[in-house]
Amino acid sequence: MTPRSLPALVLSALFATGASAQGAPDGKQISTQGANGAPACITCHGAQGEGNPAAGFPQLAGLGAKYLSEQLEAMANGSRVSPVMAATAKALDPAQQQAVASYYASLPSPLNIDRLAATAMHPVKPADTGAWLATRGAWDKNVPACNQCHGPGGIGVGQNFPSLAGQPAAYIAGQLRAWQQGQRPPGPLGLMPAVATRLSDADIDAVSAYYAGLPKAADLLAAQTPSTDGAKP
Ligand code: HEC
Ligand code: HEC
Repeated sequence: MTPRSLPALVLSALFATGASAQGAPDGKQISTQGANGAPACITCHGAQGEGNPAAGFPQLAGLGAKYLSEQLEAMANGSRVSPVMAATAKALDPAQQQAVASYYASLPSPLNIDRLAATAMHPVKPADTGAWLATRGAWDKNVPACNQCHGPGGIGVGQNFPSLAGQPAAYIAGQLRAWQQGQRPPGPLGLMPAVATRLSDADIDAVSAYYAGLPKAADLLAAQTPSTDGAKP
């Protein structure tokens, strides 16, 4: 130990006495054991935060910490209407929300980023509504391509633009309809309500199915063009 680190230790000890008796909440522990009566997150969101497509539970691993904690807060205060998550989100105090959000943000995303990004280069026909919306948008309705904000192949961009690839179709569709109906807060710059309110029901179903199936489609595409990511059989 260098002499210089001593004052820092004393300072952190002083601050620690001002914190709760149990110290900072442990995000991983909340995920596996729950807290304050909130159930363990892993029962629905998977052991690694990978989600559960069959049940419609979203992936959390690798999403932005700020995004995740904002969602927990919104589900707790009811501005994001979620019958499944409301009680759980409410049970966590703000420090616990942040801790568990940071934990999930730190987990590696299960997505194959390179393979998914390659799907954005694949030719698309206008009749394929989901793929067209994702990669080209609908300029007649003022809807930019979803990939423009969510990244090529819907892999997500930074803290503010969550990944869409592999999220359950019912979940994606549910979020778009929630924005149409004002049941989810507008989020950064109100970008998503502007997009969602311009989509038809058929658009929503098509683009949701497209992103839900994209990881599998990306694997198939990579198998047909083995040179793209150097994967060995
Ligand atoms: C009973 C199953 C269940 C449990 C347990 C559960 N969740 Fe969820 N969670 C869901 C569902 C379903 C959704 C989608 C919400 C919706 O449809 O409004 C969701 C959504 C979320 C979201 C929003 C994700 C996004 O992409 O916007 C976060 C964050 C989240 N849960 C965190 C947690 C945390 C943290 C815990 C543990 C303390 C937890 N969940 C426990 C089912 C569950
Ligand atoms: C101009 C940028 C922009 C475009 C274009 C865009 N999005 Fe988004 N999207 C966002 C932002 C920002 C968020 C995060 C909202 C929040 O924090 O509440 C988001 C969030 C979402 C979510 C919620 C994800 C989750 O984990 O709950 C879904 C679903 C979604 N967008 C679908 C789409 C679809 C489908 C399209 C194309 C039709 C699209 N987005 C186009 C900016 C954009």
